[in-house]
Amino acid sequence: MKALITAGGHGTRLRPITHTKNKHLIPIGNKPMLNYAIEYVQEAGISEIGIIINSGDQEIKGAFGDGTKMGLNITYIPQEAPLGLAHVVKISESFIGDENFIFYLGDNILVGGIRKFIEDFENNGSNCHLVLSKVKDPQRFGVPEIKKGQIVSIEEKPANPKSDYAITGIYLYDSSIFEAVNNIEPSARGELEISDAHQYLLDSGATVTFSEITGWWKDTGKVIDLLEANRLVLDNHSPINSGNIDENSTIVGRVSIGEGSHVENSNIRGPVIIGNNVEIQDTYIGPYSSISDGCKIIGSEVEYSIIMDKTIIKNVNVRIEASLLGHSVEIRRSRSIPETHRFMIGDQSRIELK
Ligand code: DAU
Repeated sequence: MKALITAGGHGTRLRPITHTKNKHLIPIGNKPMLNYAIEYVQEAGISEIGIIINSGDQEIKGAFGDGTKMGLNITYIPQEAPLGLAHVVKISESFIGDENFIFYLGDNILVGGIRKFIEDFENNGSNCHLVLSKVKDPQRFGVPEIKKGQIVSIEEKPANPKSDYAITGIYLYDSSIFEAVNNIEPSARGELEISDAHQYLLDSGATVTFSEITGWWKDTGKVIDLLEANRLVLDNHSPINSGNIDENSTIVGRVSIGEGSHVENSNIRGPVIIGNNVEIQDTYIGPYSSISDGCKIIGSEVEYSIIMDKTIIKNVNVRIEASLLGHSVEIRRSRSIPETHRFMIGDQSRIELK
């Protein structure tokens, strides 16, 4: 079995970060988001992976290369524009050939891996196997209508959903999906929708089966989803401490500190991951924070946030929380304000607080 993983699209809901960084390289638990998709696929025993990238994207190739270092064989499939998920499948036909395959959206994060779904697909012998998750806001997703335990119809982002299930970004197919993606028309938003391809399969009498994710699953389209995915990953991480911590500091709970990092006169309350060569001084770092390599956090408080590499936070005495800070951002206090700050700041932004 081969795997097809997406790393294209515009990432519009994560601007300005995505002006300068592919969304799939945003770190979750200090690891690029796309690593999780690749690891789930590898854990399931698949080594032939096709990654969809925007034409001209060198960032993803630069991060993962041809996969040999990870024992994988990665092929990059450029997409001329984000013309929809069914378009992604369509342009990948020659890479897939006539094998069964898993199509995995690179911005989906879950607990427990994907092996079980592959087994369910193989045991069912169906043409298409979808993975569902119960959600509060099905309007944001592809939504199935289920009658007597069977999917009878599928709609993309319906205003009036026919169930409270989302179709997650984990799809298993045999080669009948290619007939579907080659016979549907673009939707009103101009995309070849994967939900329309699934509806085509249902209409043409193909067998469409499903599994349900009962654990945690997240489509990381928005900042709040990234922070939640980060929380999930930190809750499950095994702490490793290779940094220097002085005697005036307190570390509580699951805290990882990378090589060359220094913690002075600070209080860190896990779960927290701190990367390499990070300086923490006179600071409080609260639960569910991921601080990437080369950051400096001095005289400040940070909680439930993702801070990308080489960012500086200095003397900001109001707690920064629920924030996503890009690479080489600087936030320095010029006078205090007695309120919580919330940020979404692009790479190399600078903010001076009064
Ligand atoms: O996450 C599950 C949902 O994913 C499903 O419930 C929906 O049915 C499905 O359409 C999809 O909806 P999204 O609106 O979340 O898709 P999005 O545009 O965010 O793209 C998902 C991934 O695919 C992401 O990794 C970007 C990539 N992509 C997207 C498009 C449209 C591409 O690589 N090329 C594309 O043309």
